[in-house]
Amino acid sequence: MAKKIENVPSPNILMNSMRSIGYSFKTALADIIDNSISAGAKNIKIFLPVNDDGNLYLSILDDGEGMNNVELFNAMKYGSPREGYGVNDLGRFGLGLKSASLSQCKVLTVASKKNHVISCFQWDLDEVERTKKWNCKELESFEIDFVPNIQSLKNFQKGTIVVWQDFDVAYKKSEGFVLPYLSEQLDIASDHLRLVFQRFINNGITISINGHVLDAIDPFLEKHPKTDIKTPSSFRVIKDDPSTEITVQSFILPHQNDLSNEDIEKLGGMDELREGQGFYIYRNNRLIIYGTWFRLSSQNLSSELYKYGRIKIDIPNSLDDMWEIDIKKQNAVIPKQILNLLKKKVADVKRSSTRKVEKRTKLSYGEDPNKIWNKGLSRNEKDRYYINPNSTFVLNFLNQFEDKDRSKILRFIEVISSSLPFDDIYNSVCNKKNETQLSEEQLDTLVMVGVSMFEQIRQIRQCTNEKAFETLCQTEPFNSEVVSAKVWERVNHD
Ligand SMILES: Nc1ncnc2c1ncn2[C@@H]1O[C@H](COP(=O)(O)OP(=O)(O)OP(=O)(O)O)[C@@H](O)[C@H]1O
Ligand SMILES: [Mg+2]
Repeated sequence: MAKKIENVPSPNILMNSMRSIGYSFKTALADIIDNSISAGAKNIKIFLPVNDDGNLYLSILDDGEGMNNVELFNAMKYGSPREGYGVNDLGRFGLGLKSASLSQCKVLTVASKKNHVISCFQWDLDEVERTKKWNCKELESFEIDFVPNIQSLKNFQKGTIVVWQDFDVAYKKSEGFVLPYLSEQLDIASDHLRLVFQRFINNGITISINGHVLDAIDPFLEKHPKTDIKTPSSFRVIKDDPSTEITVQSFILPHQNDLSNEDIEKLGGMDELREGQGFYIYRNNRLIIYGTWFRLSSQNLSSELYKYGRIKIDIPNSLDDMWEIDIKKQNAVIPKQILNLLKKKVADVKRSSTRKVEKRTKLSYGEDPNKIWNKGLSRNEKDRYYINPNSTFVLNFLNQFEDKDRSKILRFIEVISSSLPFDDIYNSVCNKKNETQLSEEQLDTLVMVGVSMFEQIRQIRQCTNEKAFETLCQTEPFNSEVVSAKVWERVNHD
């Protein structure tokens, strides 16, 4: 009969391999915060000192349930033993605390306070390398006093502090400028946390970085009056099993011209409008994957057309296997059972988003007096763009001049139209390098011109402010909400 021989993994090799499973700084930090949230924390404080005194650290402190000595010892074990996970738990593999932390640093110290007692354990990769043993160090109470920021944990009734030290990865990536590199990474991570933990933040959990409290990013702009919120649909992936229920809901964001600076800030920046299109998958309310169409749509040039589309999917942790959730909780695969349904949702969302883009931007052949630019056909049947000399905007402008000057201006306009750098614009759009937002100066100019046009309309038509404003808003460029709102504000203020 075959012999059974215990084949214990080599600690140094396994721990080093686990460092390279693909965590980034921001995803590693998010994994630590998962644990704090699962432990019922209400306050999570991330701290990175502003000066490097040679003993640089990053700490994540929470006021969750905390762990006693045995629980903490088990938590530090690769493959933490647990009797299963609750329906709201964000954990799954018993690895995140160690693998996420040690993907970024070589020394991980965790201290936890429960029933007024503080316990503390430490992994030191150099020590494991040297001894080739799974030797986890238990700190004695005088040593605990030297753990960075430990006083903050002592001030809490209960909670946990995770401390990262010896940042070899950051050292290599920054050629020794570790603190500036970490500060930059923390900056990037803060937007990630604002998005990933949006629902928890909105439900009262405070996450702060160096005392600065993070506000939530809302990728769907749910409170914006112009967001098109579709009715959610729920269904069971396995018929007759209520624990396999998922919810899918589509959103079409407002047109970019209808977004104020505050809206854009809530969205996480203008780039997010295009980069953030696609699916948002929430596992137990924690965003795990976002900004991808999962190959259910190409992410090419047409992505400009689909940028207003977002599809939110809520999945329970009971479906982890089916979604093939990975250790970092950054990858998932759409289960076959729902592929067709999602394809249909994607097609609907893409259609609505395209319609939104086209409604504002698509030029039809022939002249529309409300548009400044028009599209016509060239002699060889190609599209040709030109400034519409009969547009309300241009006509209003021309009205201020004598006939002889008007013809000069019209020739001038024609020259500008004929020198539109079409190829270069095409190139910028393809490379996603085009700026679609107005600069402050452009906005100021448009508002100034808008106010003077408003006055003209009012005087010529002898109408009310409201009527004049309504007329103004029908023509470009004042049909943009951002511009018209500012014109209205200025008019009423003056
Ligand atoms: N901040 C914390 N407060 C209380 N308990 C914690 C905390 N961090 C970790 N733990 C405990 O340690 C265990 C191990 O954490 P770890 O992140 O390694 O794995 P996990 O959360 O169980 O699963 P996953 O690998 O999916 O993250 C957790 O299951 C939890 O019981
Ligand atoms: Mg975890």
